[in-house]
Parts: sequence; C-alpha cells; structure tokens
Amino acid sequence: MGTQALRGAAISFEADPFLAAPGTAPGTAPGTALRHWTDALIVLEAGRIRSVGDWSAAAAAALAAEGVPVTHHRDALICPGFIDAHVHYPQLPMIGAHGEQLLGWLERHTFPTEAAFADPAHAARVAEAFLDALLAAGTTTAAVYCTVHPQSVEAFFAASERRGTRMIAGKVLMDRNAPEALRDTAEGGVADSAALLARWHGRGRQLYAVTPRFAPTSSPAQLAAAGRLWQAHPGTYMQTHIAESPAEVAWVRELFPEAADYLDVYRQAGLTGPRAILGHGIHLSEAEFCHCHRSGTALAHCPTSNTFLGSGLFRAFEARRPARPVRLGLGTDIGAGTSPCQLRSMGEAYKVARLGGHDLTALQAFYLATRGGAEALYLEDRIGSLAPGMEADLVVLDLKATPLLDFRLGFCDGIEEVLFVLMTLGDERLVRATYVSGTLVSGTLAAGGAG
Ligand code: GUN
Ligand code: ZN
Repeated sequence: MGTQALRGAAISFEADPFLAAPGTAPGTAPGTALRHWTDALIVLEAGRIRSVGDWSAAAAAALAAEGVPVTHHRDALICPGFIDAHVHYPQLPMIGAHGEQLLGWLERHTFPTEAAFADPAHAARVAEAFLDALLAAGTTTAAVYCTVHPQSVEAFFAASERRGTRMIAGKVLMDRNAPEALRDTAEGGVADSAALLARWHGRGRQLYAVTPRFAPTSSPAQLAAAGRLWQAHPGTYMQTHIAESPAEVAWVRELFPEAADYLDVYRQAGLTGPRAILGHGIHLSEAEFCHCHRSGTALAHCPTSNTFLGSGLFRAFEARRPARPVRLGLGTDIGAGTSPCQLRSMGEAYKVARLGGHDLTALQAFYLATRGGAEALYLEDRIGSLAPGMEADLVVLDLKATPLLDFRLGFCDGIEEVLFVLMTLGDERLVRATYVSGTLVSGTLAAGGAG
C-alpha cells in the first residue's frame, strides 16, 4: 500500500477522561483529554500513521508534490478504529436468542451453537462473517473467544491474518460442567492451547490469549495448568469471565469454598496480572477491584450483554476510581451482546451508568472504545490513537448517515454533544470507511456507496 492521506475532522485521546483534571493534558481542550481537529490531514504510510496535523494549503501542496493521494472525508469524523475487549465469534449465529439469564442461556443456546465448531468449514464461514460484521461496525481489534475446538482457533486466526487485522484470540478451556462434546481435559486442553500459541502468537498481527471460559467450567487443575502456560509466555493474554450474574457468583462460592472471593480463584491459579482481561465484573467487591488495580488486570464492560441477559449494572465509576483505577475496555460480548457496533455499546454503557446513578460522558465512552481499550489490552503504543507511528487502523463515521442523525447534529453545540449524539443514535450505518493497516477494507465507501 502506497502512501496516502485522509482529510477531515478527527478525534483522538491524549489522556484519560476518567482521570484528567481540567486542562492538564497539553494541547487539549480544558476539562477534557480529547484532541479534536476540525480539519485534519492524516498521512498513512506502510501500514502506520506517518503524521497527523491540521490541514493547510501548504501541507496539501507538499503532499501533492510527493504524489500522495488525499481522500477528503466531508461531513465525517475520523476516529481510531474501535476496540472490542470481549467477544465470542462462534456466537454470531445465535445473537439475539430469546430468553434465560446467564447460566440457562449458556445451556440452552450457547453450548449447542458452539458444538457446531467441530466442523472446520463451519468455523471458517462464521469467522469470515464475524470479521465482516466487526469491520463493517468500525472495530479493528478485538479480544475474541473461540470454542473448545482447536480448529475454531485455526479458522479465526487464518481469517484475521488474511485481512491483516490485529486480533487477540484463544481456544476455550472447559473440562467440566459442560456437555461432553464441548469438554477437553485439564492437561489436553492446555497442550492444545500451547500448540496454538506457538503457531499464532506474534505471527503478523495475531496475538494469543489463554482462554479458560470461567471458573465453573474449569477444574482447579485446568485453571492452574492454564496459569502456568500463560506465565511461561510473557506477552500473551489471558481472558475469562468473572462475576457476571449473582447465580454464577454463588456457584463459584460452592465450587471453590476455600477461595476468599471469585477473583481469588483466578489469583491462586496465576491468572491475574498484566494482559489478563476479565469479562463483566458486575458483582465484584472493593477488594477485588483493588486486586485488579494492583495486579494490572483489566476488566471488559459489556453493557448490551448485561442488559440483554439481565445480569446487572456494571459500576464503571467504581472500577475507574481515580485512587485505584482499573484498566477498562468496552466489549460487545456477542452473542449475549446485541450488536457488533461499539457505538451501540457506548450508548448502552451510558444507560447502565445512568441507572446506577452516574453520568458517563461521551468522552469517557469514546475513550473506552479507543484508547482506553488499547490500554486495557496493553496495546496503547500501537493502536487506539491517531498519532505518528501508530498502526493505521481507523474508522470514518458519516455524520449524514441517516436523515435523523443529520437533522439532530444540526442542533449540536460542540464536539462533546456531537459525540454524545453519535453514541446515542449511531450504529454501523454510520461507518463510511474502515481502514486496517492503512487499507480501506469496509464501510459504505468500500462497498461503492456514497462517500
Ligand atoms: N460466562 C461463561 N461463558 C460465557 C459466555 O459465553 N457468554 C457470557 N456472556 N458469559 C459467559
Ligand atoms: Zn463473554
């Protein structure tokens, strides 16, 4: 891909809006951590961002002299590609399945759906559909659960590698409390994971996550073996679920009576620390938040899933308490989550915070879906921001995508209100262009639609 440039309004975070005191980030608007260019010129070269600055006639002339083509995105907002910190690709065929709370939903809908991934052709087909859906929604990186079948991981990474997306994924480990066809063994599951890790971690943009589903479906022996594998491979990830529903928390207390709390089960198995991503964490205690903070363990807030299953209201402001902030990303959690689009997750996160008596700002929501997500995944030096040297994963949102959006934005006063309306009214219809490593891969522009 040759050098190219994008022109248009753009945003990126230079500090954490949960923590930033008014006016502390140099060059940012007072009270925010946001960098907003009303007319930016972003140069992409060799898969990375070469430069970001204000458009000027002189800068444009210099690019023209170099022969660099410029795509002018009018009536649009260029953002870093969205980051999904928790999602299950094999559950795309069951998104929007009616009825049940978490544990019944797993039995009735999830496990039968995941059993089909013994077939590598099915896995390959779903992996492609999933990546299509993510990219069409402007998401360029995700932390992805596969199924217990190694071939499901193979299919996913192969599809991601072909598209050049930076993805984190791993084989689900599950040696108990699941149907026979979906169970591995303590050592066998971890041996399969080790082979997949050796094959895929660090290959191009792919990254491996050791993935015990959650404490109830892994024996203590399997959790410990997973912890040993993860610890033996610095730079790899660990993802699992925690404290999503009250019934699940009670079950974990029964299964692990000696553990101080849910997080202690993972801590004792060596499954907390930098690059551990825990999905949900709705029903965590202060002591558990403190351990996440101290150990560098991240949480993934999955609001569309939590409201869909009726799991509870995640306390984002407790998690992000400035005295001991926990790294926090935003997850769609498909198929319990109801949309691949992080604009929908942001809008739902606002409602969840509101029901909990808090006010999630648009800046905080967009941060969670971009730079905050990158920090949760320890990838903030590569993705999540528009800055020189970052990987060129971007999404261009069309501010005239629907008549209602166009109409409503006409009454907005300033970028914060625009962002809030985008996350309240927005979905994948807004995605005009998704760029992966500087290549246009999705969006209405890629499909030949109006640009
Ligand atoms: N807990 C354990 N497995 C799952 C899953 O697949 N989805 C959700 N939402 N929670 C889980
Ligand atoms: Zn999940």
